[in-house]
Amino acid sequence: MLGCTKARPGGTLHSAAHTGPGCGVNDLPSPQPVQSLLLFGATGDLARRMLLPSLFGLDVDGLLPEGLRIVATARSSLDDASFRAMTETALGKALEAERLKPAALARFLERICYVPLDAAKPDQFQKLAAAVDATRHPVATFLSTAPSLFRATIAGLAACGLAGGTARLALEKPLGTDLASSRDINDAVAEAFPESRTFRIDHYLGKETVQNLLAMRFGNSLFEPLWNAQHIEHVQITVAETVGLEGRLDYFDGTGSLRDMVQNHMLQLLALTAMEPPAQFDASPIRNEKVKVLRSLRRIGQDTAASHTVIGQYRPGAIAGMPVSGYVEELGRASDTETFVAIKAHVDNWRWKGVPFYMRTGKRMPSRQSEIFIQFRGVPHSIFAHRGAVAQPNKLIIRLQPEETIRLLMMTKQPGLDREGVRLREVPLDLGAVAFADVRRRIAYERLLLDLIEGDPTLFVRRDEVEAQWEWIDAIRQGWVANSMTPRPYAAGTWGPSAAIALTERDGVTWRD
Ligand code: BG6
Repeated sequence: MLGCTKARPGGTLHSAAHTGPGCGVNDLPSPQPVQSLLLFGATGDLARRMLLPSLFGLDVDGLLPEGLRIVATARSSLDDASFRAMTETALGKALEAERLKPAALARFLERICYVPLDAAKPDQFQKLAAAVDATRHPVATFLSTAPSLFRATIAGLAACGLAGGTARLALEKPLGTDLASSRDINDAVAEAFPESRTFRIDHYLGKETVQNLLAMRFGNSLFEPLWNAQHIEHVQITVAETVGLEGRLDYFDGTGSLRDMVQNHMLQLLALTAMEPPAQFDASPIRNEKVKVLRSLRRIGQDTAASHTVIGQYRPGAIAGMPVSGYVEELGRASDTETFVAIKAHVDNWRWKGVPFYMRTGKRMPSRQSEIFIQFRGVPHSIFAHRGAVAQPNKLIIRLQPEETIRLLMMTKQPGLDREGVRLREVPLDLGAVAFADVRRRIAYERLLLDLIEGDPTLFVRRDEVEAQWEWIDAIRQGWVANSMTPRPYAAGTWGPSAAIALTERDGVTWRD
């Protein structure tokens, strides 16, 4: 039981590692750190912008296992030297110059070798197996490739001996385009990797504030008694981006915001917000609670898709004073793909009876803003009303972007003698902003890669969660088809079509912009 009592470096929320009854049960992977990390899609955008900079960040902080070797692979016919040069350029773009100390850089590049490989050709996997020294096990493979290559890659790994024993597999989204295709992928994975060694990535779970949501909810006695329909009026989850297609037209067109953002990131945020207290901060208890929420989501289908969802597509407009093109102009052809979606959802259980969860996400919004907003109910009776003061209901804002903060808006008395009546003011209480001001905020992938290397699946998504997410999303898409819904236009640089405003205003709720 190597590692059962190992203290985990750098973990913020980690319980005393895998102690207690969970340790050793068969849904927990071997906690041995991996010695080889295989990176598929190593020349791709994600690897260059996120994965390699994250691995470098971990290395600089001494968090990678001493002998860890990174075996990068992609189709491009590069050699070690040219891949290392590409890595150096990528790090230069992604990180501040002062973090790229020559000695640290040299040590990191030394860990990397490159094996050109066409995943569709099974015979090429032997080269990969040869690059993983027999002494450098366990191995973790990170698939950052098109899902169409998953099946062939997994079969190749299994055939060359890189799937058995303690080998782990991490998969990047998209994990399918609907429930059926997601099951296909999951079945292909399951043929070679048991669930305990499968790490499905949702990079939102690696964000510090997302984990802080759990610390706030379950590390304090203050919030939990109020965290229910009796005290919370509604919840808003917004993930607004200013970017447009960013050269990802092949992927995004035909995918759309519902499948790109809601199916994964936003439903995970909703599940963490709504879930019951898990018994422990560990993989099974957390994922058990999340999946219960996902399965309690009220189905939105043919009858309710038109009243509970709004879809939009951006037209030309301006963001921060700069003109930007519309979606179809960027794409170069007509399209019915939504770049904005707003949804009124419900979690049908005792805790959340009657509480709407409004979600919206969009490209080309006025600002980059991602947050979970909890609107509490007002005081039952205002003792200040006859003195002209209004007590606003409390609000909690868990902000993921652009900065990571948690802010509670409270009513306080404005100082003074109150000769003209009592004046109350809404004042923010910032949790953590000052206490952790000097702590470097890590890239979400740093946390996830380290957890993969160390074998902690807590912040990864289990198969039943992904499938519950797809089931809910598929019904919405069927509802759109049944109602012949197509995206409504909105100008780039605005908060989506006006129908999205009407979606909440009907309930007397205003989106927090
Ligand atoms: C990705 C989506 O999963 O998340 C992108 O495919 C989106 O379309 C991105 O831009 C947003 O991530 P973040 O961390 O920048 O909010």
